[in-house]
Amino acid sequence: MPKILVTGGCGYIGSHTIVDLLDHGFEVVSADNLSNADESALDGIKAITGRRVPNYVADLCDLDTTLHIFEDHPDIAGVIHFAALKLVGESVEQPIRYFRNNLNSLINVLDAMCRHRVRHFIFSSSCSVYGNAAELPVTESTPLQEAESPYARTKQMGEQIVQDVLKASPGLQAVLLRYFNPAGAHPSALIGEAPTNPATNLVPVITETAIGLRSEMTVFGNDYPTRDGSCIRDYIHIMDLANAHTRALQYLLDGRNAQPCEIFNLGIGHGVTVLEAIHAFERVSGQALAWHIGARRPGDVVAVYADNARARQLLGWTPARNIDDIMRTAWAWEQQRRRSKNS
Ligand code: NAD
Ligand code: WQD
Repeated sequence: MPKILVTGGCGYIGSHTIVDLLDHGFEVVSADNLSNADESALDGIKAITGRRVPNYVADLCDLDTTLHIFEDHPDIAGVIHFAALKLVGESVEQPIRYFRNNLNSLINVLDAMCRHRVRHFIFSSSCSVYGNAAELPVTESTPLQEAESPYARTKQMGEQIVQDVLKASPGLQAVLLRYFNPAGAHPSALIGEAPTNPATNLVPVITETAIGLRSEMTVFGNDYPTRDGSCIRDYIHIMDLANAHTRALQYLLDGRNAQPCEIFNLGIGHGVTVLEAIHAFERVSGQALAWHIGARRPGDVVAVYADNARARQLLGWTPARNIDDIMRTAWAWEQQRRRSKNS
């Protein structure tokens, strides 16, 4: 089966995608500089799949290092490029670090692919490219607005870089995947999200509160024009998200793409409010959560959710899990993670 290079393979989405790729018979090599991960995810992947995935502890911002990986593996059939820094707030404080890391690593990976004639590329993009979208649900042709952060701008620029490189590289094919709000964990609880401490995304904030790392959590605003006053997002289970990568890769390998570069939204297709997410957690965990209403968080949009018809039709992708599944698996992972840290 084809060999796939997964960059950022020790991270949250990369590790779950590796499991799905192995489950579908692909061979995987990972490259991750461990700037936001350790290699424990590789142990989890081994426990789940029985396969040990090799990882290059490599900074993809270094071209020679990147080229070496391709020299070692002349049979790489495709690349899934997850490696990036991803904290929106941090990117506002450290724009140069974000532009340097996210753009240089992308450019080097594309350069190495061109030199080694590797033809299939999947890029981790983000719903943040839409900015404050003018219409809901967001389709792939919804016009992109001004980026709200340097992080989001690295994704807008990344998409453009991929498209420009493709124009100059006949044969190179790419899929840009725009994730909405990934959350949850593998059902085994052997891999999951290991956020920076303290977490900033809603689902790990909820599980960190429930496990006692925080005394209570804040709901950022209940005066939005939504059904209960809190913001609406499209939470996509990590295993559904992971499977979309395998499908996108197979789509390219089969030559089913009509254009050299195609874009897919990856969301469940409907929105959940912050309060609904909290209630889902309480329902599946049987545990009351300590929360209070606080001020709006600067930069938050009122509501965003995906039109995912394109991914359903062309990739045959059907997200099967809902907010309850997200909370159940995120909670199992949080408990497992703290138990193994304390033992
Ligand atoms: P993550 O931080 O868990 O994984 C990214 C991995 O890339 C980390 O393990 C990190 O060590 C590695 N990395 C970073 N820079 C590197 C470099 N220069 N060289 C080698 N390795 C490097 O993040 P994630 O949540 O798994 O996100 C994966 C991708 O998906 C990123 O591109 C992110 O921007 C994108 N994305 C994430 C979300 C989300 O909410 N998690 C949403 C939309 C898009
Ligand atoms: C979700 C909702 C908060 C924490 C971010 C990035 C986006 C993409 C996905 C990378 C919002 C509310 C949160 C808390 C809360 N990442 N909330 N209390 O901001 O939708 O998207 O992750 O590409 O680019 O911006 O996700 O999980 O931070 O917030 O009330 O303690 O939960 O206000 O409505 P967001 P989030």
